[in-house]
Amino acid sequence: MSIRPQRPAPATPAPGRLPITELAEMKARRQPIVMVTAYDAPGGRLADQAGADLVLVGDSAAMTVLGHDSTVPATMDEMLVLTRAVTRGSRRPLVIADMPFGSFQVSDEDAVRNAIRFVKEAGADAVKLEGAGPMLSRVRAIVGAGVPVMGHLGLTPQSATMLGGFKAQGRTAEKALALLADARALEAAGCFSLVLEAVPSPVAARVTRDLSIPTIGIGAGPDCDGQVLVWHDLLGLYEGRTARFVKRYADVAGTIRTALEEYAADVRERRFPEEQHTYAMPEDELALFEEAVRTSRDVETWL
Ligand code: KIV
Repeated sequence: MSIRPQRPAPATPAPGRLPITELAEMKARRQPIVMVTAYDAPGGRLADQAGADLVLVGDSAAMTVLGHDSTVPATMDEMLVLTRAVTRGSRRPLVIADMPFGSFQVSDEDAVRNAIRFVKEAGADAVKLEGAGPMLSRVRAIVGAGVPVMGHLGLTPQSATMLGGFKAQGRTAEKALALLADARALEAAGCFSLVLEAVPSPVAARVTRDLSIPTIGIGAGPDCDGQVLVWHDLLGLYEGRTARFVKRYADVAGTIRTALEEYAADVRERRFPEEQHTYAMPEDELALFEEAVRTSRDVETWL
């Protein structure tokens, strides 16, 4: 039996795991950082095999996996289950757990407690949280407790209602300046990188040049230090309306539907299972079995 090593806490990174410090070096080398979301063990494994640097267990799971209309309902318990599955599947990429709405807004203590749960109970390497302002003290507290934090600015889906919906942010000089100030503040608070979502490309480029930590863009143009896409969007698994910034690389939903339709037709037409999908038994045992059934009414007495 092969025993796979347990993922250790971030203080002792596993052999082969991308060191978190490498991200700043990638930025300095202008080597693009690849991040993708994943929500289960096969997803973590495939992202790893494809060479992703970072795997985000996004609270987008609330919409893509759990069927909600927004990310807000995602709970700590749900995110812990999903994060645990992803960390079991992936080895080299850093796994970042998205802190769900309500898990960090109330107090620094709550934020630290929940960030530590992601590391201890789910094997996450880091956490991500949305926003700046009052969240800066959360970042300081979590980083102070030894857990790396990724920031998230621009369109922050947990506060989409406050932002007036799912729309691009930082589109006026004043808003772009505020975004730059927030980005600087998050870097100063200790974030190791920053997601910029739905931000005009020139603003994201300016923020990227300004910071020494890497920016990871989603709908923020080509000049960010890295890019992230949501698993279901990228693979064509999410069939709702997708944002302008989504590029679909496959039609996995179509592939799955066709396979399921073929399976259903095979079952109905008795084409499945075939000989190779079934188990045989020795002829003499079968004969004994049939004879026993024929001669006895009471099945219990055979055993
Ligand atoms: O939850 C998520 O998937 C995210 C990405 C869109 C960055 O936050």
